[in-house]
Amino acid sequence: MEWLHKSVLLKEVIDFIVVFTGGVYADLTFGEGGHSEAFLARGAAAVWAFDRDLSAIQQYQEGGNLRGDPRLKLQHCRFSQFPERVGEEKFDGILIDLGVSTRQLISQERGFTFQKEGPLDMRMDQTEGPTLQELLSESSEEELADLIWNNTDFKGSRALSRKILHHFREGKIKTTLDLANLMGPRWGKAHPATVPFMALRMAVNQELEEISSTLPAAVERLKPGGKLVVITFHSTEDRLVKRLFQQLAGRCICKERICLCSKNERVKILTKKPVEPTPEELHHNPRSRSAKLRCVEKKQ
Ligand SMILES: C[S@@+](CC[C@H](N)C(=O)[O-])C[C@H]1O[C@@H](n2cnc3c(N)ncnc32)[C@H](O)[C@@H]1O
Repeated sequence: MEWLHKSVLLKEVIDFIVVFTGGVYADLTFGEGGHSEAFLARGAAAVWAFDRDLSAIQQYQEGGNLRGDPRLKLQHCRFSQFPERVGEEKFDGILIDLGVSTRQLISQERGFTFQKEGPLDMRMDQTEGPTLQELLSESSEEELADLIWNNTDFKGSRALSRKILHHFREGKIKTTLDLANLMGPRWGKAHPATVPFMALRMAVNQELEEISSTLPAAVERLKPGGKLVVITFHSTEDRLVKRLFQQLAGRCICKERICLCSKNERVKILTKKPVEPTPEELHHNPRSRSAKLRCVEKKQ
C-alpha cells in the first residue's frame, strides 16, 4: 500500500490539542490517518475517526498501521453526522483538517484534478449526493455563479458560469480536461482552473455548509478545557471558521445597531492569528502552503 498524504501541521495539532495519555479524541477528517496515528502514539485511550470517503476507510482497514487496533474507532460518515455516531462520548480534543487528501486530489477517476482526464464527479463520498455532472445539469447560470462566488469569492464568477454552462449544454464538456481547457492555458505560477475547480468541488460537497453545522456541535461534544482545532486551505473557509469561533466565544457578530446574537461564551480563542506551516514544513510538503490552523478551548 502506498501512502500519499503528508499530514499537515502535525506537531502544531498535537501541541494545541495537548494530547495526553488516556485522553479521548475525535479526528473528523481521517484521510490516511496520520493525525489519528499521532494521537494514539501519544497515548490516547481512544480516537473516534470519521471520513465521508468510503475508499479512505477501506484502504486503511486493509493496510493501515493501526488497523484492527481497538482504540481506533473508524467510521464512514460526514462529519456533520458525527454527534449521532458517538453516543454520550465527550472529547479532550477534536480535529477537523479540511479539504481533500493527496490521494483524492491526484486520483484521475475521482475528477478533482484539472491536470488529468477524469469524470465530472468530484464527490468525496461516492456513495451519495450529486456529481459535478448533475450539478451542472441542474443549475441555472445564476445559481452556478452564486456557488462559485460564495465558495471562493472568484471575481469572474458570472462570466465563468455563463461560459461553463454554454459549453456544457452544447455537449463540449465531458471530462475535467474539457472543463480546465475552457479556463485557458497556464500562465504564471497558478493554473487559471485552480480556484474554479476548488469552488466546484466545494459546491458539489457542500463543504461550507458542513463546517457551519459541525463547529458548534463539535464544541458541545468537548469536555471542559477540551480543544477544537480546524485546519483550512482557502480564505473563505478560514473566514467562516474565524467567524464561527468568534460567535462561539461570545463576540457580537451581528452588524445590527441592537445586538441580536446570543453572546453565549462557550469557548476561549487560543489563536488570535492563524498558525501557518514553518518554512521547513513548506519545503518538505509544498501542499501545506495555504494551510491555516485555528484553535479554541471549551470554557470550564
Ligand atoms: C486533508 S484530508 C485529511 C488528512 C488527514 N488528516 C491525514 O493526516 O491523513 C481531508 C479528508 O477529510 C475528508 N472530509 C472532508 N470533508 C469531510 C466531511 N464533511 N465529513 C467527513 N470527511 C470529510 C476527505 O474525504 C479527506 O479524506
